[in-house]
Amino acid sequence: MCGIVGYIGNREAYPIVLKGLKRLEYRGYDSAGIALINDQKVKVYKKQGKVADLEETLLGVNLHSHIAIGHTRWATHGEPSDANAHPHLSPSGKIAMIHNGIIENYLPIKKELLAKGYSFQSETDTEVLLCFIEDIQTCNQCNLEEALRIALRRIVGAYCLLLIDEENPETIIAARKGSPLVIGIGKNEHFLASDASPIIEYTKEVVYVKDYEIAIVKKDELVLKNLGNENQTPFIIQLDLDLAAIEKGGYDHFMLKEICDQPQTIHDCLRGRLDADTGQITLSGIQEYLEEIIRANRIIIIACGTSWHAGLVAEYIFEELCRIPVEVEYASEFRYRNPIIHLGDIIIAISQSGETADTIVAIEKAKEQGAIILGVVNVVGSTIARISHAGAYTHAGPEIGVASTKAFTGQLAVLMLMALKIGNAKKTIDQEKYQLLCKELSKVPDKVAEILLQEKRIKEIAIKYKSARDFLYLGRGYNFPIALEGALKLKEISYIHAEGYPAAEMKHGPIALVDEHLPIVFIATNDTFHSKIISNMQEIKARKGKIISIITDGDETASEISDDFIAMPWMNEIFAPIINVIPLQLLAYFIGTENGHDVDKPRNLAKSVTVE
Ligand code: AGP
Repeated sequence: MCGIVGYIGNREAYPIVLKGLKRLEYRGYDSAGIALINDQKVKVYKKQGKVADLEETLLGVNLHSHIAIGHTRWATHGEPSDANAHPHLSPSGKIAMIHNGIIENYLPIKKELLAKGYSFQSETDTEVLLCFIEDIQTCNQCNLEEALRIALRRIVGAYCLLLIDEENPETIIAARKGSPLVIGIGKNEHFLASDASPIIEYTKEVVYVKDYEIAIVKKDELVLKNLGNENQTPFIIQLDLDLAAIEKGGYDHFMLKEICDQPQTIHDCLRGRLDADTGQITLSGIQEYLEEIIRANRIIIIACGTSWHAGLVAEYIFEELCRIPVEVEYASEFRYRNPIIHLGDIIIAISQSGETADTIVAIEKAKEQGAIILGVVNVVGSTIARISHAGAYTHAGPEIGVASTKAFTGQLAVLMLMALKIGNAKKTIDQEKYQLLCKELSKVPDKVAEILLQEKRIKEIAIKYKSARDFLYLGRGYNFPIALEGALKLKEISYIHAEGYPAAEMKHGPIALVDEHLPIVFIATNDTFHSKIISNMQEIKARKGKIISIITDGDETASEISDDFIAMPWMNEIFAPIINVIPLQLLAYFIGTENGHDVDKPRNLAKSVTVE
């Protein structure tokens, strides 16, 4: 998720675009750049780092122009670097382009262009698309708008593009599919951006460009067309949001936005990797080590916090599907022990930030002893991504809320893909089950969206129990790590003490805690252990504990025992964790907000623990 800003009008363009980029830095912040036209030439200024770093390098530079486009990057293809920063220049140097999105079929297009003799300055899909557009313009002798239209019919993926062309210095051309684009309408000026936050201080009249539309924007004219070159009527709306609300997409907090973004972020994580119809799983980031992984005698998963919970889920899934022994280690413990690592052991290091100090040191320790490191990371080009031998990104986009939500389900999606791919390669999953599980995994985004419709019901449950002083979270098998994760979410957001436990462990001591004041959250969706967890619920009921349960739709046995329940769509138990965590995220969020806490920045916590 990147930030895009454009301006064309009578004012100086640079200050407007720069300020707009600063408003969008929450969308991505590993590099930034601006392109403008002065002295009849396209000029591009870009660098790795924050917008303020770019601004510093431009002090004293002649940036006079009434047209400019700017970009703040969240890397997906190509690590953060000056070369990979946007805007990119076309081979002729006459056209500059910025892009938010992912071009999935850029590699075959790049191969065609390389065969034609083109070369590339960056590793990005964006530069390939721009070169493709200019090549079409040259071969077809057509204008930039027509060349763009032809190119967009060929590419697969998501995009929001802004282009400026020194041969048409009065026009910004834009296009969108899957990534947002808003155009603000001023007096003899237009503002373009990924959301309205850079626009709202200048105008409240905006047009939300629709998928497959191309916008031709002059200071005093806005033309919208579809890919069939037919004019579309711009639908102008009057904004009534304030700046803070816009940055959060209209949600009260980034945490709620990120919880509700999960159908899209899980889809983004699976996109281009899982073809449920054919059962084809593409994980190019581990392909080089697939043989070693298949032959591995052991997998050790190293992580902290919520990422460690993702590792626990992976332990159950990898042992079931791949029949490889798995150990899950707290990085903070592993790094100080004298662990026994065998040559060829596979380490999976899981980290949203890719900068957690304990995990980094643990990786280095394992690497010294000959282990192969696979990183499962959200931040492209982060330290853990760079020191791993291979890996896969979770593509969840920047996670602003300190409590990890969409990054966690992104981790689970990647780990589920890995387990399926490795199990299929090892033939430890029969083909029928493999095909079924691929289809199950592809349905997760829709099932998460279905669960989110229960937000109001979950809020009511949160209000009912918000004053409890302690909670217990109980689950079995694949759902045991989700009990731990639900408890952690509640602790870090509401400051209420909560413990996660294997449900069967209650009789070994914790059941002494149970009385009429103690809410117990059971993750009790239909699975192999269902009858046993029903017994655990009855043991709690007999002791007057208050039961909140996560159950499968239609489970009357569990709903009758529960004081409150949240019904989930059926999901194969192996992948149930990725949907069962959703109501627990919402429960923690609403208990935190109902108790008046700043859930995006909980006390004592940091988003990335880069110290011991
Ligand atoms: C999760 O809600 C917490 N904020 C925390 O436990 C986090 O998961 C942990 O610090 C690990 O961070 P990482 O995934 O960036 O390595």
